[in-house]
Amino acid sequence: MIKAIIFDLDGVIVDTARFHFLAWKKLAQEMGIPFNEHDNERLKGVSRMQSLDILLGLGKVKLAKDRREALATRKNEWFVDYVESMKPGDVYRGVPELIVALKKGKYKIGLASSSKNAPRVVQLLGIEKKFDTIVDGSMIIDTKPDPEIFLLTAQRLNVDPSACVVFEDAEAGVEAAKRAGMKCVGVGSAVQLGKADLVIAKTADFQLELLNKW
Ligand code: BG6
Ligand code: MG
Repeated sequence: MIKAIIFDLDGVIVDTARFHFLAWKKLAQEMGIPFNEHDNERLKGVSRMQSLDILLGLGKVKLAKDRREALATRKNEWFVDYVESMKPGDVYRGVPELIVALKKGKYKIGLASSSKNAPRVVQLLGIEKKFDTIVDGSMIIDTKPDPEIFLLTAQRLNVDPSACVVFEDAEAGVEAAKRAGMKCVGVGSAVQLGKADLVIAKTADFQLELLNKW
């Protein structure tokens, strides 16, 4: 029986996945590395430094640690600039209503984001109180596709992993949820998210009745 719903943040609750892409694209352009939305799929859900390493790998660029750290900081500054313009109305349409309906159904609600900016994003959106627990990138050692973040979220919700459903827009996130032994709803395209138990185009498309069947 499903007892908890765990949401990813970027690309599931709000369109910050776009801001991550734009900031990485800007860095790639500066460095002369070809980078498009298809390449960006590999960066979704993984940590900042791992994302940078994937980007540098695309350009076959090798750099020392301090230089890589400086580039990651630069990308983050651009990302934070985009984020600071966000307001409560930027939450994806229908998501607040979905969370209200889930709460009515007595499901516990968790947020599990690889982003170290997640606390600031939920604060700007005014949604921090909607979650029974929030786990962000600063609280884990291994990021998605490792299951650590989802297992920690389930533990904090005091729910067995097998009773959790994860909403994810990243291939790495779907893999992490499945490795955690959870059901997974992919938000986006079945091309990237085919390993999820269900793929929907938008978070708000989810039909609550399905939870009784899982
Ligand atoms: C994830 C995003 O939520 O957070 C990734 O999908 C991002 O694209 C990762 O790299 C880390 O984010 P941040 O804000 O800590 O750089
Ligand atoms: Mg995401």
